[in-house]
Amino acid sequence: MTQNLDKPCGQLLLRTLAMPGDTNTNGDIFGGWIMSQMDIAGGIRAQEIAQGPIVTVAVDSMKFIKPVQVGDVVCCYGSVIRLGTTSVALKLEVWIRPRQCHDGDSGPRYKVTEAAFTYVAIDENGAKRMIPRP
Ligand SMILES: CC(C)(COP(=O)(O)OP(=O)(O)OC[C@H]1O[C@@H](n2cnc3c(N)ncnc32)[C@H](O)[C@@H]1OP(=O)(O)O)[C@@H](O)C(=O)NCCC(=O)NCCS
Repeated sequence: MTQNLDKPCGQLLLRTLAMPGDTNTNGDIFGGWIMSQMDIAGGIRAQEIAQGPIVTVAVDSMKFIKPVQVGDVVCCYGSVIRLGTTSVALKLEVWIRPRQCHDGDSGPRYKVTEAAFTYVAIDENGAKRMIPRP
């Protein structure tokens, strides 16, 4: 996976705030919390694409590039990298607007994580189902 330090790849799927309760023992934001935000963000998009319920089946190439601090604005971007018969894979990136920065959309930002999340469309019994074609 290539690393683009200048500009997020894909559409904005989720924006939230890193809170004191999300820290690890070093005082940085816990990586598991960041992964969970990515899973939620990708799940929203996958559900739209699959036009119904989905489950996460795999997380690949997870990279933690820089730490996240309390008060940082956490922005998750995503784009489809593979649309299969029953699954869809999204490349997800988390970019940060640092807490000290009050310049809104024009302020500095940087990428802190990236990964590929794969989701499978499921039916009412939890079995895989075909994803409707566009
Ligand atoms: C997801 C699930 C329904 C798949 O059931 P299955 O009948 O065994 O499905 P298959 O192995 O045939 O895989 C289904 C699709 O997922 C893809 N897939 C499966 N494992 C994968 C992996 N490790 N990485 C990438 N894709 C994977 C397959 O390629 C296939 O895609 P395609 O139809 O687009 O070609 C089942 O494994 C499951 O319920 N897993 C638990 C999900 C879960 O609880 N997630 C956490 C909470 S959301």
